Amino acid sequence: MSKVLIIGCGGVASVAIQKCCRNDAVFTEICIASRTVSKCDALKAKIEQEGKSKTIITTAQLDADDKDAVLALIRAYQPVAVLNLALPYQDLTIMQACLEAGVHYIDTANYEPENIDEPIWRANYEKRCKELGFTAYFDYSYQWAFHEQFEKAGLTALLGSGFDPGVTSVFTAYARKHYFDEIHYIDILDCNGGDHGYPFATNFNPEINLREVSANGSYWENGHWVETEPMEIKRVYNFPEVGEKDMYLLHHEEIESLAKNIPNVKRIRFFMTFGQSYLTHMKCLENVGMLSTTPIEFQGTEIVPIQFLKALLPDPASLGPRTVGKTNIGCIFTGIKDGKEKNIYIYNVCDHQECYRELGSQAISYTTGVPAMIGAALVANGTWRNAGARTIEEFDPDPFMEMLNEYGLPWVVDENPQIVP
Ligand SMILES: NC(=O)c1ccc[n+]([C@@H]2O[C@H](COP(=O)([O-])OP(=O)(O)OC[C@H]3O[C@@H](n4cnc5c(N)ncnc54)[C@H](OP(=O)(O)O)[C@@H]3O)[C@@H](O)[C@H]2O)c1
Repeated sequence: MSKVLIIGCGGVASVAIQKCCRNDAVFTEICIASRTVSKCDALKAKIEQEGKSKTIITTAQLDADDKDAVLALIRAYQPVAVLNLALPYQDLTIMQACLEAGVHYIDTANYEPENIDEPIWRANYEKRCKELGFTAYFDYSYQWAFHEQFEKAGLTALLGSGFDPGVTSVFTAYARKHYFDEIHYIDILDCNGGDHGYPFATNFNPEINLREVSANGSYWENGHWVETEPMEIKRVYNFPEVGEKDMYLLHHEEIESLAKNIPNVKRIRFFMTFGQSYLTHMKCLENVGMLSTTPIEFQGTEIVPIQFLKALLPDPASLGPRTVGKTNIGCIFTGIKDGKEKNIYIYNVCDHQECYRELGSQAISYTTGVPAMIGAALVANGTWRNAGARTIEEFDPDPFMEMLNEYGLPWVVDENPQIVP
């Protein structure tokens, strides 16, 4: 019996909210709060019309950049936890409000600032690039800085409960608990074999997606970061149920937390598949300045190029009906069990059209929204309570793995996988 406040009502939230309503024994009441309240009202109407859920839904307009507004809504609604499915830009204001109001916090992506030219943030960023050796705009330091305060307050902040980060880290905790004495190598493989038929579109928020993909790559090896040029390292992999795809090494946020939390790990890499058309479009947009977050003046109005691009691109939430094919996301582990080396591959395959038939969404939102609901359920019902600001591999993976099977993301353990060179 829990009351949960959900912030954001985009592609990921739409899946998470519908799944919360299917888990109405835990989510007895939810409030959907977002910048555009009409989206919250439309989703509430859809769920109520279907008439399958006992969850009581309310909605609210909220600007989550305003910490006091978030705090006022939490105090008025009195949830046990807040599930943050807005953008990474809002992570810190929402965490701060949760702390002040005394409620638990769950999200799917780590903090990054909207304006990367803001001087105080920029100075910290440049210091971190030098000290840690990776140049991604996001890192966990801003959220880990809340750790002691959450710990003292007896509150759980569950960071990164999407698919990657999220399920990939739960797979790691599961492998560590059930298959290995020590894990030495982790390769996280994210394959989207789906085709939406557009020459160019992003599967989730374009701003966040394009920033991530156009950045330098990096991996963790022997206790430090190794940085690469964007798309410098390419491999070909034959993905179960999808087939052979080109994949490229990217920096990704779970590498940072797994490097901290998995003892004796020697190397952690992350690969994502991209087709040549996507890469060519992205390079061209980058070259002409369309990926910039620095505001420019255009005919008397200030515009941010990447936000203007977002307005031109297809809304990721609209890709559902047109996307066919499957995703395969998982991790290959190499390590030691009882003195012998072994490899296992844990992965999930998700079909875009099946997701669309079930919830009206494509598989990228689906594979993120389901774990967001699961993380929120486990925190809300008290199964996962571990005071502090913690990433998901710090919790017992078993109840989460069971719920993945129950709520639409079944997984496979392959004990003889193809290894990535
Ligand atoms: N871990 C993973 O595997 C994974 C994978 C994909 C995405 N993600 C993360 O999931 C989150 C949601 O992604 P998405 O694809 O659903 O994005 P999206 O479709 O753009 O939705 C974002 C939602 O947040 C709302 N929002 C934005 N700024 C807000 C503010 N200041 N106050 C209140 N609401 C605000 C938006 O409102 P409007 O409707 O007004 O725009 C929209 O409803 C992102 O943080 C993304 O990085 C994680």
